[in-house]
Amino acid sequence: MLDQLSQMEKEALSALEAVENSDALDSWRKRYLGKKGALTQMLRSVGELPKEERPAFGQAANRVKVALEEAYDARAEALRRAEMAQELEKGAIDVTLPGRPTGPGHLHITTQTLRQIYAIFAEMGFQVYEAPDVETDELNFELLNMPAHHPARDMWDTFWIDDEVLLRTHTSPGQIRAMREYYPEPIRVILPGKCYRYEQVTARSEHQFYQVEGLAVGPSITLTDLIGTMTEFARRLYGPERRIRIRGSYFPFTEPSIEADMDCILCSGEGCRVCKYSGWLEVAGAGMVHPVVLDNGGYDPDEWSGFAFGLGVERPAMLKYGIDDIRLFYGNDLRFLRQF
Ligand code: FA5
Repeated sequence: MLDQLSQMEKEALSALEAVENSDALDSWRKRYLGKKGALTQMLRSVGELPKEERPAFGQAANRVKVALEEAYDARAEALRRAEMAQELEKGAIDVTLPGRPTGPGHLHITTQTLRQIYAIFAEMGFQVYEAPDVETDELNFELLNMPAHHPARDMWDTFWIDDEVLLRTHTSPGQIRAMREYYPEPIRVILPGKCYRYEQVTARSEHQFYQVEGLAVGPSITLTDLIGTMTEFARRLYGPERRIRIRGSYFPFTEPSIEADMDCILCSGEGCRVCKYSGWLEVAGAGMVHPVVLDNGGYDPDEWSGFAFGLGVERPAMLKYGIDDIRLFYGNDLRFLRQF
């Protein structure tokens, strides 16, 4: 019986060496170590041996069992490695092949427009002042002369973070920040940035868009300075022949408030679809800084005056390039973006 056992061990080990894949390995395990396998059968027949031979046979059988199990584990590991190496070779990447070059990108149309606006105002002596997108109710409304329940808040509703903190609806809160930082110096800044509104998205309105605020504060700033600045801006952005028209308007943070329109760049005032046959296009909301706002910024309204304006960025770009839907700006469609 011991001879049979060692014969079986030899046979099993040499069969294992011939095993080349995991299916064959599995059959080998069933054949020798499985419930009906050769070793199990031999262990079952131990009862047929004379009593005195049984312990020696039991010991030998256990040793063979351990030896076969170890050999099985080693073979399984070797096969696993070999199969992995084969897989890797099949899917190998030829690192010597030249890469596919990614073409150079370019600035987004909004960034290009912003930079044009910065350049125009830089030449007029305006510095860029950055203010945060996340604002307080106090700066976005309260200090701009819109206390709680002021009806003007309705047209500038936004995304609230909690009762006091919100995403700014316009760049105007930056006016207060700039005044508080620059006081008692005169100010000439533009404040560009993203604004957010709780409003229906349409071809002309996004819930997230850019504005560029302008603020000038000095000892003798007048409405004509504002009109001159707006006119110069429109001429530099759209061409020297542009004309500006001033309409009365209302903003709680300016007094008087105006709306600056320019003659339509497409029809030069004749009337067309873009200007809705009025001959004029809106450029900016603006006005003289309200005394309450000057005061909130730290400037005595009896000694100082100032003007402020708020320009959109996407809408002027739409006019300039003849884009008829604002939603294209942030739709990430390369066919659109590559045109500018
Ligand atoms: C304001 O936001 C005022 N803060 C502007 C201002 C500043 C007035 C300083 C006086 C003094 P208004 O809501 O009209 O005003 O927005 C100004 C410009 O932002 C618009 O003319 C338009 O170009 C742009 N704009 C407003 N809402 C949207 C929108 N939903 N999508 C795209 N552009 C918008």
